[in-house]
Amino acid sequence: MKELLPKQAQDYMERARHVADTAVRPVAAELDRTGDYPWSVIEALREADLMGIWIPEEYGGKGAGVLDLCIVVEELSKACGGIGVSYAVNALGSFPIIVGGTDDQKQKWLPPVASGEKLIAFGLSEKASGSDAGSLRTRAERDGDEYVINGNKKWNTNGNAASFYTVYCSTRPDRGHRGISAIMVEKGTSGFEIGKREKLMGIRCVPVHELHFDNCRVPAENLLGNEGQGFGNAMKTLDRARPGVAAQAVGLAQGALDWAVRYTSERQQFGQSVLSFQATQFKVADLATEIEAARQMVWTAARAIDAGIGNTTKFAAMAKVFATDVAMRVTTEAVQMFGGYGYCTDYPIEKYMRDAKITQIYEGANEIQRLVIGRALTKEAAKATGHLDVKVEHFEEEEASEEVPVGA
Ligand code: CAA
Repeated sequence: MKELLPKQAQDYMERARHVADTAVRPVAAELDRTGDYPWSVIEALREADLMGIWIPEEYGGKGAGVLDLCIVVEELSKACGGIGVSYAVNALGSFPIIVGGTDDQKQKWLPPVASGEKLIAFGLSEKASGSDAGSLRTRAERDGDEYVINGNKKWNTNGNAASFYTVYCSTRPDRGHRGISAIMVEKGTSGFEIGKREKLMGIRCVPVHELHFDNCRVPAENLLGNEGQGFGNAMKTLDRARPGVAAQAVGLAQGALDWAVRYTSERQQFGQSVLSFQATQFKVADLATEIEAARQMVWTAARAIDAGIGNTTKFAAMAKVFATDVAMRVTTEAVQMFGGYGYCTDYPIEKYMRDAKITQIYEGANEIQRLVIGRALTKEAAKATGHLDVKVEHFEEEEASEEVPVGA
């Protein structure tokens, strides 16, 4: 219910919807086929003043919140999930600077991202460290006033489209996750190569690449915060960014349901529209209800982050896990409602299902979100009870009743 949103968020919604209708829908299918980057959409987003809105005003942004970001991402994702993430990943890439950078670093890196002149990406995952982000192996060694980076990153979204990369490296391998540091790297730096592009099931217009660092030297001033603060920086970043993935999922789900309702209202079988069958009515009713619940969770998590309320980790994870599971369910059901046509690329619907799948995986697989939520609940229980063993109240055991012999 957009009327309940602040005026500013409603304004972002309208402008993003306009970009989605005029710049995203016309190219979504073609970019899915070619894998080309949506540069024309980035241009349209710049014209609509929507790039980098989450960046504080003093660094060239609009000082908008995570709620506004989620609203733009949802609108874009209704039309194309790939384009939704190509936009949202700039927030994921720049939050580490907002969260952990000095004023000078913010002055240097944020304004070009805020204007959309440069794109930015987030380099945390590696081949052998995905969910277990703390075990990453990319190494950065201090050498005078430089860091020398060696290692490889995996699953870098916006890989070859970005100009700046937030790269998490180990500066003290003996300290595990406490030895991780966040370092900014610019495209074109000697020793930094963009590697293989992954062939993906969905979000095909977004280039996802490996990154390779071979004695890549960057100025020591590119270190965000202090050495060893990188893991915390990554976690705080993901807390802010996960509602964006959830918003992408809500957009995909809503976009797919809108198509399914339209298709089933036009499709005639047994002398009536497929939508008029009660089985279809009940199905769309349940799906629409789930989407609305997911949207409210996303908005609540985003507003809690914007309000600076502590302990938003759990709510970001809940929004992500719920909305992305809803997206997978809704898009799969939408394909089913299209029948055979749903399985065929002539229609837009199968793309929604392919695009939705990744939302359950990236920025922390849903299993990890459940772990985060579970740990938060355990901590809350520990606070309430004073120790970590959760007490379970149960009824006193009933006295064993005498067994009645069979046939008695
Ligand atoms: N905020 C701040 N600090 C946090 C935190 C949070 N939300 N969560 C954990 N920490 C801190 C802890 O307090 C702890 O601090 P100390 O060292 O002072 O004790 C430290 O981090 C380690 O915490 P844990 O023991 O909980 O860490 P863990 O090793 O058990 O891992 C995890 C926790 C939640 C599983 C984490 O590793 C995680 O989130 N994994 C998933 C990573 C992920 O989302 N990757 C996706 C990358 S982006 C992508 O997909 C590609 C793309 O481009 C879109």
